[in-house]
Amino acid sequence: MCGIVGYIGKKNAVDVVLDGLKKLEYRGYDSSGIAVVKDGRLQIRRSVGKLKNLEENIEKRPLKANISIGHTRWATHGKPSEENAHPHTDPTKSIVIVHNGIVENYAELKSGLEKEGKEFKSETDTEVIAHLIKKYYKDTLHCAVRKTLKEIRGSYALGVICKDEPNKIVCARQDAPLIIGVGKGENFLASDISALLSYARDMIFLENGDIAELTSDKIIITDTENNVKNREVKNIKWDCVQAEKEGYKHFMLKEIYEQPRTIEDTFRGRIYPDEGRVYIEEVKLSKEDVKNISNVYIVACGTAYHSGLVSKFLFENFAKIPTEVDIASEFRYREPILNEKTLVIVVSQSGETADTLAALRLAKSKGCVTLAVCNVVGSSISREADHVVYTRCGPEIGVASTKAFTGQLTALYILALDWARKKESLSKEKLKKYLKELWEVPVKIGNFLKQAENVYEVAKKFAHKKDFLYLGRHINYSIALEGALKLKELSYIHAEGYAAGEMKHGPIALIDDDMPVVSIAVKSRIYEKINSNIEEAKARGGIIIVIASESDKAIADKGYSVIYVPDCDEFVSPILSVIPLQLLAYYVSVALGCDVDQPRNLAKSVTVE
Ligand code: G6P
Repeated sequence: MCGIVGYIGKKNAVDVVLDGLKKLEYRGYDSSGIAVVKDGRLQIRRSVGKLKNLEENIEKRPLKANISIGHTRWATHGKPSEENAHPHTDPTKSIVIVHNGIVENYAELKSGLEKEGKEFKSETDTEVIAHLIKKYYKDTLHCAVRKTLKEIRGSYALGVICKDEPNKIVCARQDAPLIIGVGKGENFLASDISALLSYARDMIFLENGDIAELTSDKIIITDTENNVKNREVKNIKWDCVQAEKEGYKHFMLKEIYEQPRTIEDTFRGRIYPDEGRVYIEEVKLSKEDVKNISNVYIVACGTAYHSGLVSKFLFENFAKIPTEVDIASEFRYREPILNEKTLVIVVSQSGETADTLAALRLAKSKGCVTLAVCNVVGSSISREADHVVYTRCGPEIGVASTKAFTGQLTALYILALDWARKKESLSKEKLKKYLKELWEVPVKIGNFLKQAENVYEVAKKFAHKKDFLYLGRHINYSIALEGALKLKELSYIHAEGYAAGEMKHGPIALIDDDMPVVSIAVKSRIYEKINSNIEEAKARGGIIIVIASESDKAIADKGYSVIYVPDCDEFVSPILSVIPLQLLAYYVSVALGCDVDQPRNLAKSVTVE
């Protein structure tokens, strides 16, 4: 978690760093801070809470310089407070650092330093790094950082400045993302490209073990042994405005409305419905390779995990491959049975989620073939997996994932169809039909979004309720889980997703006339079954809200609140039925005055266990 930004060049570094931090606030917003070197002196401003507090602080005590590093924090060691806010310095205030990650052996390092008489000002693990760099600082900052990193166990993306070398920033990465933006007469660093898009298009994705020294016109990258490393400069085509709100009140709403485009972008050039052809350039698995896969594990966290649950149906129904889905933090500790015939798919929007990354590494260590479905190009997961299918959704800023989820569903749907084709487990006609169904999804979502006002009405009506139940079955059971998760994270209302067939085994006892029951009852093989479950809930007084297929006229007479979505095949239906649930959670959150884009206690990218 946490976001870091750095700048060296002719501009006012404070403006550049603050601007970059704004784009990274999704990585944490417990506190923020900035450091500069000016006239041979380190100057630091830190504030608790959101970035606007730091901006106000700087307005009162202005700062200007040509070199700066900044940080936005999601607390891991030590509560959110000014003392614990980054940047941190050594006791003599000559070294200043920002850090994203965790120093696992910090307690041991700290007690060693305390025995040497060093005093600590914060409860953070980061402060030991500043102390160590100072301890090893004899000739150059670069050399001191290299020595320090040899002592540290854990993960880090680091930005370091020294008042005695005011023309350089040293940065380093290990298991936390760090990107260098390459400019002309200026250079940048940041945790993620969205922070730099307004300034630079040429980016270097640092690799584990890299240490870089940035001056305004030079970038030197080495390893901890000081061997020079040549890293490719990639030109990033992401549109700057993609990272802005484009007139929407919140990023989340913008991202919901972007979905027709992001879904289409994800399948563009990869599917050809008329020819029954699927072509995923990045995945180099031959027919033989696919036939050799004995089973698939899909491993992910949060919303990405729900996309895995949906896809189990696709891999089993289309490609006839036994598929298990697991939460990454469970998978990595339960000794799953893995071998070289197992294919492990990790799904991650950020490509940096610590547990998902660890699960990927575990799978690799067992000889499994690995594949990542990922949104962020150049992220750790995308670089370490054997194959990557990018979701092409652009930056997702809202903490609650929306467009990345439907991108994941799209990518996994295509993948399952590609393997069905390779295994000949689906007829050509069926393949064409399913491809065509996906092809039509963006237009259908676009049509739904044009007339989604009744979702707003439903949200307004029920926003004051204390508990919600979400019901689904078969492939839409996972969408019930996702709908409940969206409501919980955005509005702090207790919500549970349940397999409707399980109702009688306990949860039906919860239902009374104050309980909204949101049910996904689109046309599918289990349509009759879920309708019986809805009747059972209604008979107990439940307030029924139904997501139904447009052609289902009969449902209108049953006294439910109905939200219609366009008709489609059941296997693509999750991509459509989740949209009203995203909107419902969004509008409830707005009605309650919650912080939609940055819900309490959450962070977008969970780079710690
Ligand atoms: C956090 C985010 C979720 C996301 C999950 C997994 O909890 O708030 O929206 O689904 O992490 O993140 P990933 O980047 O791996 O998809």
